[in-house]
Amino acid sequence: MNTILVGAQWGDEGKGKIIDVLTEQADIVVRTQGGNNAGHTVYIGPKKYVLHLIPSGILRPGKVCVVGNGVVIDPVSLVGELDGLEKLGVGVTPENLQISETAHVVFPWHRELDAQREVRKGHGRIGTTKRGIGPTYGDKAARVGLRVIDLINEARFTERLRERWKENNDVLQALGAPAVDYDALHREYTAAAARLRPFVTNTVVYLHHSTQRGLNILFEGAQGTFLDIDHGTYPYVTSSNTTAGGACTGSGVPPNRMDRVVGVMKAYTTRVGEGPLPTEDAGISDLLHALGREFGATTGRPRRCGWFDAVVTRHAAMVNGIDELAITNTDGLDTVPVIKVCVGYKVGDQVLRHIPSDIEVFARCVPVYEEFPGWQSPTDGARRWEDLPVNCRHYLLSIAQMTGARLTIASVGPAREQTMLL
Ligand code: IMP
Repeated sequence: MNTILVGAQWGDEGKGKIIDVLTEQADIVVRTQGGNNAGHTVYIGPKKYVLHLIPSGILRPGKVCVVGNGVVIDPVSLVGELDGLEKLGVGVTPENLQISETAHVVFPWHRELDAQREVRKGHGRIGTTKRGIGPTYGDKAARVGLRVIDLINEARFTERLRERWKENNDVLQALGAPAVDYDALHREYTAAAARLRPFVTNTVVYLHHSTQRGLNILFEGAQGTFLDIDHGTYPYVTSSNTTAGGACTGSGVPPNRMDRVVGVMKAYTTRVGEGPLPTEDAGISDLLHALGREFGATTGRPRRCGWFDAVVTRHAAMVNGIDELAITNTDGLDTVPVIKVCVGYKVGDQVLRHIPSDIEVFARCVPVYEEFPGWQSPTDGARRWEDLPVNCRHYLLSIAQMTGARLTIASVGPAREQTMLL
């Protein structure tokens, strides 16, 4: 069984935890897009792990993790992640981690250009994670990027690096940004390459053989549907395909080898960075932040919070082909007396039931709400579906129905045991 897991909102849906649960049934876990802009927080007992590039499956013995061709890799950051895992006593070897030789490499000028463009945009900024993701995918599309296969070949790397360094330093200089020192860069990246070399392989062939052998593969999505470069709220998006199709292009496993798509969504909505969020609500933001919830795993930024938006999740179900839904963070709503759900958008005297493609129209959308009675009791102790209050079950089933997919997982806290399989 090959499963694609995607975020059905703007990222941070709690995918890390659901991935961890689904990993139990998987032999191989694959990252297919994005870079270290993502941060998956996983709790195992009292230990908290934040992973950026390496799939969280690395924490489970016997699982193989793959960083696919669609990912952009900051080699220095990846080495830091390997070191961190080792310090925690997690063994990482070429037996359980494979890195695609055709993934693209992030360089310091990508990060600097990311930051420079944000400053220049001023109020129109995207609110990126400043990890250089956009400029790296930009170079990939412009066919001037360096790939992992170039990084690990020392002679070729030295030659191509100088070329890329020269051009990018000229650009940085024109922008008045600090130049990158060639020797220091070369030293740092060559050392990272030496550390990563044993893990680098042709992951497309490996995944193809694994599929033929009938192994179970989980494709873990990073970010969420509305950060997708094609289907998201452009330009307030990331630079990869975060939707289900990205799992195919970012791994080399074809669509007819995929068996199901699982969508993950919160029981409410959050977003980090700029861009429209029609159901944003100061009351619910304050409530969740006061509970110590909703701070970004990668940047620590407080997330913007709002009511559940069924128009958004229905669109996500459509473009991803979501078969099954996991709803997370249900316990975040435990104290709310009346819960609102957005079922349409008012624009002038029209009510829209879909997301408008024009970002300026989307920014002006006023939500039309349906109200649900809260349950006003703690749910974090629930271990079975029947343990949840009636109003809570009604709410979860209703938002799943509005989204148009079958609810199969409900989660009421960060721990593995706070997950109910329906
Ligand atoms: P970038 O991916 O750093 O270029 O950022 C582009 C947009 O995507 C910004 O709004 C970021 O806040 C958002 N973003 C990127 N990665 C994540 C993530 O893992 N979770 C949530 N938002 C993200």
